[in-house]
Amino acid sequence: MKIGIDKIGFYTPHLYVDMNELANARGVEPEKFTVGIGQSQMAVTPITQDAVSLAANAALHIIDEEDKEKIDLVIFGTESGIDHSKSAAVYVHHLLGINPQARCIEAKQACYGATAAIQLAKGHIALHPESKVLVLGADIARYGLNTPGESTQGAGAVALLISAEPRILALEEKSAYFTADIMDFWRPIYSDIAFVDGKFSNEQYIWFFNKVWEQYQEKTDLTLNDINAICYHLPYTKMGLKALRTIIEQASEEQKEQLLSNYQISTAYNRNVGNIYTGALYLSLLSLLEQNKDLKDGSRIGLYSYGSGAVGEFFTGILQPNFKEHLNKEQHTSLFASRKQISIEAYEEIFEEELPTDGSTTELDITQDPAPICLAGISDNMRQYVNKLTK
Ligand code: COA
Repeated sequence: MKIGIDKIGFYTPHLYVDMNELANARGVEPEKFTVGIGQSQMAVTPITQDAVSLAANAALHIIDEEDKEKIDLVIFGTESGIDHSKSAAVYVHHLLGINPQARCIEAKQACYGATAAIQLAKGHIALHPESKVLVLGADIARYGLNTPGESTQGAGAVALLISAEPRILALEEKSAYFTADIMDFWRPIYSDIAFVDGKFSNEQYIWFFNKVWEQYQEKTDLTLNDINAICYHLPYTKMGLKALRTIIEQASEEQKEQLLSNYQISTAYNRNVGNIYTGALYLSLLSLLEQNKDLKDGSRIGLYSYGSGAVGEFFTGILQPNFKEHLNKEQHTSLFASRKQISIEAYEEIFEEELPTDGSTTELDITQDPAPICLAGISDNMRQYVNKLTK
């Protein structure tokens, strides 16, 4: 039985800043951000969006009535959770109207959370082939104004429907994974911004990649020439390229060209969104699938997931017949086209906005936010969400 990705949804907030403008404001050469880091635009999250609403908006357009009946497990990978106790999955389960006979949990291991969710979903479907699992990866990357990490901020969510006989990507059986306790990036529960040892984090990302790539080859007897494209976890679009370059010489000349060209295509959406942590790898996959006109059914796609702290995993999937018919390219094109560029001053103001933490009631103005699902306020320490489509 094949198990894998049957549908993919994506959402990013409607606001962004241009990286040239951010560079000018920070007194650095624009090419550092656009070439050295490889980012063109950075999504900015209005106060009316959080990880829950972003994920619900990503899933809204892919889940139909049949899915709502068949989904019996919702796993929400995030490192921007809104509650230390209640899982973000329960909120999304409610907002989407999924049947109550379902399990809902949150998965945390930095940017690896959604991959953990997919692998757990795979095991669940193997035991219950008739069921479907909704995997969500949603995050708001915050390093702070004027910090080295600022140019790698971003926000967005990816929703993946995992099922038997998937129509987009069938996951292959073997996978290689590795864990080591390191402090390259972390966010203590008292902080709303991440702590990061950027250079160390870059090194570890590559070291973990080499480790799992080696292990994958031993487990499968496959080589780089058997893989048509590799999608990477992308904290910024230059990062995956640094990792790919460490193994590219293992490929034939023709294959090198294919892998490097597919790498560029796989960064298209991420370049204009920024880091979305748990969803970043799957946004890269979406870029590749929606933007590469020549990708053929049956192609093998490699996926490298890395979550600081750290866990790395390399796994592969096979593109299914007519997979292109099951993507939502037009919707994503119009999502990007409808975004609004804001000034650096406006971004800084939004960045500093905070919800009350004293139990007081705040109503937020959701009329300026075009998202169907918004955070409309907070009352008695409870977040109030609104789905404008069902209101
Ligand atoms: N033109 C072109 N490239 C330029 C440039 C210019 N004018 N100025 C600098 N660059 C390049 C640098 O050479 C470097 O490229 P390289 O890494 O290929 O050598 C790149 O731009 C970044 O410059 P650097 O000086 O290393 O930037 P920095 O010290 O300000 O920080 C990060 C970069 C990535 C370390 C920082 O943004 C960060 O910590 N980000 C978060 C990391 C992260 O997300 N990790 C967790 C998950 S993996």
